[in-house]
Amino acid sequence: MASQAMIGWRRLVFLLGPCQAAMLNCDAGELAPLAVGDPVFVCVFMSTQPVKKMVFQIKVEESAELVLKGSALLAIGPNDSQPLYTWVSRSHAGPSHPLDCSNSTEMDARGSYLSCPQICARSAMVAQLTNLVVNLRDGEVSSFAWDNTCSGCAPSKCMQSSQSLENFTEGSEFFQQGTCGVGRDVCVGTPAACDLRVFVTWAGTDKRGRNLISAGSRLSKLTGPTMASLYETLMDGYSLASQAVSGAR
Ligand SMILES: *[C@@H]1O[C@H](CO)[C@@H](O)[C@H](O)[C@H]1NC(C)=O
Ligand SMILES: *[C@@H]1O[C@H](CO)[C@@H](O)[C@H](O)[C@H]1NC(C)=O
Ligand SMILES: *[C@@H]1O[C@H](CO)[C@@H](O)[C@H](O)[C@H]1NC(C)=O
Repeated sequence: MASQAMIGWRRLVFLLGPCQAAMLNCDAGELAPLAVGDPVFVCVFMSTQPVKKMVFQIKVEESAELVLKGSALLAIGPNDSQPLYTWVSRSHAGPSHPLDCSNSTEMDARGSYLSCPQICARSAMVAQLTNLVVNLRDGEVSSFAWDNTCSGCAPSKCMQSSQSLENFTEGSEFFQQGTCGVGRDVCVGTPAACDLRVFVTWAGTDKRGRNLISAGSRLSKLTGPTMASLYETLMDGYSLASQAVSGAR
């Protein structure tokens, strides 16, 4: 449904229900060193109050598209005073509040468990897709990296993420590389097109020393026109789908 560029990606849909993180944790046990094809649990958090948590099972070196179904409604919901962020954690015993990526001590201490914060919605704009690269070193997760590009959209549509998010508040330092967003009004018409999609790819080496290559197809490798058509396909696909639904009634 999405686009030809996404053939070969496994789509995992998670419906954002009332499930909420009582505690900010992601503890499904210790992670043994990983080989290609091994399953890995990742928790995806959304900075609503209280925070929402979704758990996905992905596989090493398999490109996956995580669809956070219902996130558009959060993004266009009444809380436009606060920006909406997401972040990712792998299973570990400590707390899972987002990494402060403006602090190198913190990155050294927790960077192999957690990602930096990633913007989902701010005032009039909503992000539709983002790319996460999981870096392994000899099968151990060494870091999570958001790998985005604004090459598919106008500069006015480019949204920057803060490097930190403490108590739901953005820090003052922002990442250079942004994420394309669309106007909130677009999402009111076709909410499904604005449910955040997290494309996951892999880099580094597994426990047997095999090189992971799926990050070669990460989104920032797509050129401007390809990116732009991916966004158009997202929008067109959903407006056609919603027309089909309303036509069928
Ligand atoms: C919206 O924000 C206010 C304060 O910023 C908070 O008290 C409230 O719980 C938030 N609502 C949601 C649904 O996140
Ligand atoms: C940086 O992170 C470390 C470890 O998490 C923490 O102890 C320290 O207070 C942080 N520094 C700042 C300026 O936030
Ligand atoms: C966040 O909240 C905690 C606990 O309420 C507080 O100790 C801390 O100073 C707050 N941080 C910021 C940046 O407001």
